[in-house]
Amino acid sequence: MRSHYCTDLSEANVGQSVVLAGWANSYRDHGGIIFIDLRDKSGLIQLTCDPEDSASAHKIASSVRDEFVLVAKGRVRHRGEGLVNPRLKTGAIEIVVDELIIENRSAAVPFVIGDKNVGEETRLRYRYLELRDPSMYETFRLRSKAAIAARNVLDENGFLEVETPILTKSTPEGARDYLVPSRVHSGEFYALPQSPQLFKQLLMVGGFDRYFQIAKCFRDEDLRADRQPEFTQIDVEMSFCNQEDVIKIAEKLLVAMFGACGVEIKPPFNRIAYRDAMEWYGSDKPDLRYDLKMVDVIDIFERCDNEIFTNIAKQPHKNRIKALRVPGADLVFSKREMKTFEDFVRQFGAQGLGYFQMKEDGLKGPLIKFFKDEDIALLVERLGMEVGDVVFFGAGDKKTVWDYMGRLRIFIAEHERMNLADKDAFEFVWVVDFPMFEVEDGRVKALHHPFTQPKDTDKDDVEEIDSIAYDIVLNGTELGGGSIRIHKEEMQEEIFKLLGIGEEEAREKFGFLLDALKFGAPPHGGFAIGFDRLMMLISKKSSIRDVIAFPKTQKASCILTKAPSTVDATQLRDLHIRLREQTIK
Ligand code: AMO
Repeated sequence: MRSHYCTDLSEANVGQSVVLAGWANSYRDHGGIIFIDLRDKSGLIQLTCDPEDSASAHKIASSVRDEFVLVAKGRVRHRGEGLVNPRLKTGAIEIVVDELIIENRSAAVPFVIGDKNVGEETRLRYRYLELRDPSMYETFRLRSKAAIAARNVLDENGFLEVETPILTKSTPEGARDYLVPSRVHSGEFYALPQSPQLFKQLLMVGGFDRYFQIAKCFRDEDLRADRQPEFTQIDVEMSFCNQEDVIKIAEKLLVAMFGACGVEIKPPFNRIAYRDAMEWYGSDKPDLRYDLKMVDVIDIFERCDNEIFTNIAKQPHKNRIKALRVPGADLVFSKREMKTFEDFVRQFGAQGLGYFQMKEDGLKGPLIKFFKDEDIALLVERLGMEVGDVVFFGAGDKKTVWDYMGRLRIFIAEHERMNLADKDAFEFVWVVDFPMFEVEDGRVKALHHPFTQPKDTDKDDVEEIDSIAYDIVLNGTELGGGSIRIHKEEMQEEIFKLLGIGEEEAREKFGFLLDALKFGAPPHGGFAIGFDRLMMLISKKSSIRDVIAFPKTQKASCILTKAPSTVDATQLRDLHIRLREQTIK
């Protein structure tokens, strides 16, 4: 129907006849002339309906209301002196309408399109109206460009796009499964895939050599701003490769996807070992847009005159005493605010938070009295303290100290008066050499997943075993991760054993994988990038929901369709399901 999109037109088109189609964004009647801002996916343009140009178009225009669907035929004209609207891309021109067609009417809309102050519940309920905002379209345009760029670059590098099943068996990525009851097999369930992990490994056993998929994944886990129950991964696997080969492909992929969104990034990205990331930043996904690195001071505290610290310092294997120097913080925060930092870390298990301030006449703070002069001098030197700096101390069990000091690091850096993170920067880092296992409440768990290749299993303490696993982190968000996989059956069985998965359970859950590994599985590895997270960061949105067309709420429901919902009794009977009385709504 249309000859142009609204924002295709500029002063270069003045005098041309055009046909435009879209929605009435707003409507004004000024002394008999009706102005309508017409909106399409590209943006707005002003339609001018003057009875002197076309009496019939003017008559139709007088019945137009917000969000009516219009087709307008007319001529492009300069707006004239003093009438230019600098806020509109097309603000220097207007369309003099000689024919106007109302293709459809609209009920009164629950919010003005583009209004950002509308509650999320309402926006999601009428998501299709929110999507009419051209800035939303722009987000999804970038998403589409990035997906196409991913396909192209992987295709050029010999990767084959293969779809893997959605109705499948559970894969252990650490979350709960979404289950689908089987009608044909009474009492049995499919699981929706948490990732295509095992199938992509089977494709390697199948000799496909290089695979990728833009894959939907499903995880029933607690939701946060960067998590959805269903999300998309750019999932990649390759054979006869080492970590370097995989990282190179991942970097090429990221360059292509960011490039498609107009952002130039320059690999190779920095790398940091997991254990260093924890010691320096208290996190395996450090935000490196700012420095703030923690320093070990356990040796200095060991000599102090305070039993709490000396006792902690007696067990340097288990405990940590960490210092976090914040340049200039003494000039920014009041004493009362320093106290709020202590309240902040207490939420995460800290017993307290010591701090020293560097004044003109030396280091000050309530703990100073416990230290000898030479140790104070050593602290000042080791931390590089300058006048105006504050240093915070965390002491205790290492995991707790890493966690709360890492959080404090972010809390302070993001404080509105510190603002250390450059909002325009894209700071990538590979976190490598992840431990294979973590022990939680006495239970051994795989840190990445149980199919990851350990570096060597000859360590007495399972927590000391490293793996060939790597994560790509961007501005403090885990964007993706991967590993070199186990390709030998015996090793896979040994890892299951270490994880406390018995032979019978391993057979029952992963028998198909163990069988496949028997038949000449090649060495292989890969990674997956969280596509939604990537788009959230590229388009600088604060929630992953902004880059998903029809997202779920924090409570995992779809307000638009009202899913999940009850089903009728026959459907349940067909699926061999009986609900417990208390769950029947
Ligand atoms: P992993 O579990 O680390 O690895 O997932 C890879 C990436 O997927 C994204 N992601 C999510 N995004 C939104 N919502 C979620 N609930 C969610 N969960 C994960 C993250 C994450 O970095 N099979 C392995 C990959 C491999 O080893 O090849 C896997 O799924 O950005």
